Amino acid sequence: MLRLTQRRLFSSARILAESKKHDVVVIGGGPGGYVAAIKFAQLGYDTACIEKRGKLGGTCLNVGCIPSKALLNNSHLFHQIEHESQKRGIDIAGDVKINLGNFMKAKDTAVNQLTGGIEMLFKKNGVKYYKGAASFIDEKNLKFTPLEGVEESVDSVTADHIIIATGSEPTPFPGITIDEERIVSSTGAIALKEVPKKMVVIGGGIIGLEMGSVWSRLGTEVTVLEFQNSIGAGMDAEVSKATQKFLTKQGLKFQLGAKVTKGVREGDIVKIEYEDTKKGTTESLEADVLLVAVGRRPYLEGLNAEVIGLDVDKRGRVVIDSEFKTNHPHIRCIGDVTFGAMLAHKAEEEGIAVAEYIKKGHGHVNYANIPAVMYSHPEVAWVGQTEEQLKEAGIKYKVGKFPFIANSRAKTNMDTEGFVKFLADAETQRVLGCHIIGPNAGEMIAEAGLALEYGASTEDIARTCHAHPTLAEAFKEAALSTFDKPINF
Ligand code: NAI
Repeated sequence: MLRLTQRRLFSSARILAESKKHDVVVIGGGPGGYVAAIKFAQLGYDTACIEKRGKLGGTCLNVGCIPSKALLNNSHLFHQIEHESQKRGIDIAGDVKINLGNFMKAKDTAVNQLTGGIEMLFKKNGVKYYKGAASFIDEKNLKFTPLEGVEESVDSVTADHIIIATGSEPTPFPGITIDEERIVSSTGAIALKEVPKKMVVIGGGIIGLEMGSVWSRLGTEVTVLEFQNSIGAGMDAEVSKATQKFLTKQGLKFQLGAKVTKGVREGDIVKIEYEDTKKGTTESLEADVLLVAVGRRPYLEGLNAEVIGLDVDKRGRVVIDSEFKTNHPHIRCIGDVTFGAMLAHKAEEEGIAVAEYIKKGHGHVNYANIPAVMYSHPEVAWVGQTEEQLKEAGIKYKVGKFPFIANSRAKTNMDTEGFVKFLADAETQRVLGCHIIGPNAGEMIAEAGLALEYGASTEDIARTCHAHPTLAEAFKEAALSTFDKPINF
């Protein structure tokens, strides 16, 4: 009886599709969108989030940061077992092998647990989750198209505030067709069915180097073709050089000043051509897999943003003011689809700030203090300004450096590559930038972020007691080195 009633309700709902009004609707359930939705709900708004992927968490959780970190972590473990067991006094009986199926399963488990976790958080905070696609009917109304198999009576949604958080997608390479099999974007690179013998990566940015690291550790011969004369897209030049050195030692090959002109699949082989801009020659390479990692671009597909005349700039980024308002003040925009670094944690900050702007009239994102981390081994992390930026701005600075080879914990861990580098104001010692290449750099950089946020000096850091033996002591000694002699080096 109950079932019958439910069925009737469902079928009548399908016929009498309805429009639903909320205080806030967030389009996109990635790190920017889902955090914003939860924050709005916590601030007392009737909030909905529309997401078309079928899973929350966006690119980051589903095909970006999270799966790539699972692969990075486990491939590093494999590499360590294979190459370092003996020196650590661990004898391995038999061969150490990669089971690619289970290796990928471990990644998928992490992804599924985390995406499911956000759905629970939505329930806990009372966020209505619409599983399907949103597109503008007009400035106030969104058409809602449920995903196949999703029972949803609502076919349009309206709200006082609309937040666009639709993210980004890989920038296509003119003339190269991604098939996610042999010619892959980051999405295909985290789901290869076998370990390729040879991989060519176009782009020595974060994605290219992280994914290049993973496959190189599993036995692939990886060549990175980078157009610029340095890798790491935006790293401090000294750190970039050190990174290239460490990755080269691990087996990655680099061709800098390489302008790729062609990448064509022929059966199971990809043929690549590039211009060596230093020599002025045309070179060719063959690979089993070509990874295209030349950046990402804002994603607005299917949103029908044209119908409302949404203002976007030449690079496709939604134009916003300092309170995230688009040219329609009740529509705001955050994350990769607008200005700034395309980083999950930057989007998360904006998700909180946009809710606070609407509720309280003020919000806060310090764009000068957004850390960047590359999860290679050693990790590379930085925050604040690089030496090159300080020189260009004519700011006088001091450098303090401390190598992990002189750090007791790094020594005991047999993990001593890299250094911590502080850039401090020449007169006041105020922290201007911190650049770390070394074990756990991605965790350690948080302390530098806090220092920057509070306007701390390197002396503040050097006079703060750091536990012994920790890697963080290298951080403290690098700070000390900007104005005094280090103790342990
Ligand atoms: P990217 O912008 O970091 O690097 C792209 C690289 O490709 C640049 O070095 C560029 O010079 C090079 N390039 C462009 N055209 C080329 C050509 N024709 N031939 C050779 N090289 C060429 O972009 P990437 O690595 O694709 O990452 C996209 C975004 O995702 C970035 O904003 C990145 O920060 C973010 N991301 C962050 C991660 C993290 O925080 N760990 C992980 C993955 C991505």
